[in-house]
Amino acid sequence: MLQENVTDVLAGVFVITAGSVVTCLLVKWIQQRKTKQKIEVARAERKRALQQMEQAVQQVKEEKHAEDSRMILSLSACELSEKLKDGSLSPEAVLYTFMEKALEVNKEVNCVTDFFQECEAQIQEVKKQKAKGLLYGVPVSLKDSVCYKGHVSTCGMSFFLGKAAKEDSVIVQVLKKQGAIPFVATNIPQTMMHFDCSNPIYGQSLNPLNHTKSPGGSSGGEGALIAGGGSVLGIGTDIGGSIRLPCSFCGICGLKPTSGRLSLKGTSDIIPGINYVLPSIGPMALDVDSLALCMKALLCEELFQLDPEIPPMPFNSQVYNSTNPLRIGYFECDGHMQALPSMRRAVRETIQLLQEAGHTLIPFPVTQIDYVFNDLYLKGVFADGLSSLLDSLKGDIIDPHLSLMVSVIRLPTFVKKMLAFICSFLSSRMSAALYVTCGIRSVKNYWKQNAKKKDYCQKFISEWKKHKLDVLLCPSLSPAFSIGYPSYTTPSLSYTTLFNVLDFPAGIVPVTKVTQEDEEELKNYKGFLNDYVDKMFRQAVQGGVGLPVAVQCVALPWQEELCLRFMKEVEELSCKKRK
Ligand SMILES: *[C@@H]1O[C@H](CO)[C@@H](O)[C@H](O)[C@H]1NC(C)=O
Ligand SMILES: *[C@@H]1O[C@H](CO)[C@@H](O)[C@H](O)[C@H]1NC(C)=O
Repeated sequence: MLQENVTDVLAGVFVITAGSVVTCLLVKWIQQRKTKQKIEVARAERKRALQQMEQAVQQVKEEKHAEDSRMILSLSACELSEKLKDGSLSPEAVLYTFMEKALEVNKEVNCVTDFFQECEAQIQEVKKQKAKGLLYGVPVSLKDSVCYKGHVSTCGMSFFLGKAAKEDSVIVQVLKKQGAIPFVATNIPQTMMHFDCSNPIYGQSLNPLNHTKSPGGSSGGEGALIAGGGSVLGIGTDIGGSIRLPCSFCGICGLKPTSGRLSLKGTSDIIPGINYVLPSIGPMALDVDSLALCMKALLCEELFQLDPEIPPMPFNSQVYNSTNPLRIGYFECDGHMQALPSMRRAVRETIQLLQEAGHTLIPFPVTQIDYVFNDLYLKGVFADGLSSLLDSLKGDIIDPHLSLMVSVIRLPTFVKKMLAFICSFLSSRMSAALYVTCGIRSVKNYWKQNAKKKDYCQKFISEWKKHKLDVLLCPSLSPAFSIGYPSYTTPSLSYTTLFNVLDFPAGIVPVTKVTQEDEEELKNYKGFLNDYVDKMFRQAVQGGVGLPVAVQCVALPWQEELCLRFMKEVEELSCKKRK
């Protein structure tokens, strides 16, 4: 009798368990099917948008001259805007030339995700403007997350599909006011919290300089499109290197301003509430003058009206034009990830050029970067243990480059803590990263975290003042990594995240290319720990001969003009040397 009861209970438990498992699997299957359908729809929409772009280009094809196109494509955004303003080029000729080129680049490297068909009508509007804006007729590409009315900013996630923007983001409104013609949106990695460039909706973008390499991320589609010649000016965002890494990997220039200098109002963000390290929005282009032109155009009354939270500081051309000798601090390696041979050489050669040009160079030893990267950056940005990120990924298809990270984040906290402990015997870096994914867990801890960050920033600024620096020169992560490697080399982000923690403006200028000697020297690269991350870092950049290597130029908060002036100087000196 008793035995029979036990069997019944066991059978009952079995049926209930099996039932819940089956239900769970079924729900998951239905969710994934829905996601797949949404992705199919989004892909079809993209295809339609690109076909529309193709047709528009075909329609004007007969009227266009091949020489004009070649000439237009050879100009920088600055030169283009001059010619548009004096009427020697028409906005139509310029727009259709770039549309055609962007399609061609996209076929090669998969970087364009949407076409703003409204741009054709916008040209007519712009031509009616009485006073020509600073960017009159200049076509501009936008990173996916920079919202354009009526179009979807996907962040590479199905969560956002079907949710078209109700309004242009403030930056787009100001660009339009200045006569610029936003014409395409560009690809990003899923969640944008990554520095490769692939997502389940639009796939992987490639580096136009070598298709086995990543264009970087998260503004990777921008980097690829501009470097490929399909756009002269783009807008990206940066919370850990997302403007600077694609610029570095693709060999173009870019500026991450102080986070509050330009408006992020109306741009898409997967964690809108984050207010520890703040994202920045900024320009990407082929040369520094074009970045300056874009900043000058954006820092106008319209911006200050549309977003009163932005300090009303117009662009200071005097600082940008100044030729006073500078006091330039520098470091060749941050002490966290050993700089690659090419990164060191780029800094050394730039130091020499700047010295010869009459500037004063002062070694500026950065300290505690292990602490800055793990304890200040990662711990603060992932203070919620990445649970907001997981929420927005619910039911989504996970990109292969993110699947390892996402599976780890999904583990229960005690399992992560245990893994972190076990890992501490194998790799201190991996262990630190695992601890970070456990989150901060109390408001009190979060405030302590903020205090620690403030404290570090104060110390850094005092040190800067003690050395009486104007600007700082340091390595940029380059050359481009092979596709897939960014997932295993997160600690190398220490070179860019430092300036997100500090919230200093930082720009990228390509100064040299990887040489055969760099490549030979790389074979002996062991890093500081010679661990898995160091090995992956070395492998990531192998086969990079001929790829661009950049430096990072940095200034104190709100000194974008000085930062750009320094970048311009570095650009001029390294160009002269190459000639
Ligand atoms: C800066 O220099 C450019 C050209 O070199 C010039 O056109 C412009 O007027 C200058 N601006 C100021 C404020 O000096
Ligand atoms: C492209 O990169 C790969 C390594 O990812 C390298 O083996 C190959 O030689 C490179 N191609 C060119 C043309 O440099």
